[in-house]
Amino acid sequence: MNIFLKIARLLYSKIKYFGGILLWTPIYLRFYIKSHRQFFDIFTHLTKKERLLLYKLVLSLPNKAIVVEIGSYLGASTVFLASAIKDRDGHIYCVDTWSNEAMSEGKRDTFDEFLKNTGSMKDFITPLKGYSVEVAKTFNKGIDLLFIDGDHSYEATKSDVENWVPKVKDCGIIIFHDIGWAEGVKRVVNEFKSKFQYRRTHCG
Ligand SMILES: C[S@@+](CC[C@H](N)C(=O)[O-])C[C@H]1O[C@@H](n2cnc3c(N)ncnc32)[C@H](O)[C@@H]1O
Repeated sequence: MNIFLKIARLLYSKIKYFGGILLWTPIYLRFYIKSHRQFFDIFTHLTKKERLLLYKLVLSLPNKAIVVEIGSYLGASTVFLASAIKDRDGHIYCVDTWSNEAMSEGKRDTFDEFLKNTGSMKDFITPLKGYSVEVAKTFNKGIDLLFIDGDHSYEATKSDVENWVPKVKDCGIIIFHDIGWAEGVKRVVNEFKSKFQYRRTHCG
């Protein structure tokens, strides 16, 4: 019994490993061939896989897609979203105070670094400077993909959901970062799960 369990575990780990390679290699290659390799050097807390996943998801959007990112920081996630949105002839709106709001390293002005890091993609990016709740009041486009990575407290995440999710198009994509460890984000996603579930089944 024990030996069967060991073999099954070994097989599972191999399948997972090679499955991962098969799944991620094409997207890595595409990104490298497009000469975007330098974007991996921008400082961020996102893993490489997470950044590539953003890239991959935006590539799956329809032409002329609209992406909104709440929390752009130094632009690391932005350039991955923008590299794909460029191929979709779409546009990304970045919402941030760029004053390092709610970040553990403390307040500082990050806007110049954001502009420098995202400069090569600037035709596809519009920065919307301000608190996400305030910016939401004047934003009136339908969103194809919403990436929420701002203030991770329960209150702030809830208000991002309440103010921005209604602007997401039917069958649009909503992504939360740090759902694994940020208690506030986890709680909000659990509370809103039934709605998200509905969207998923409804969209097939
Ligand atoms: C975790 S960082 C974003 C990381 C970024 N996505 C990346 O790729 O590295 C969070 C960002 O959200 C911004 N932020 C925090 N609270 C905000 C709020 N209420 N409105 C707008 N931006 C906010 C911060 O200034 C910071 O730049």
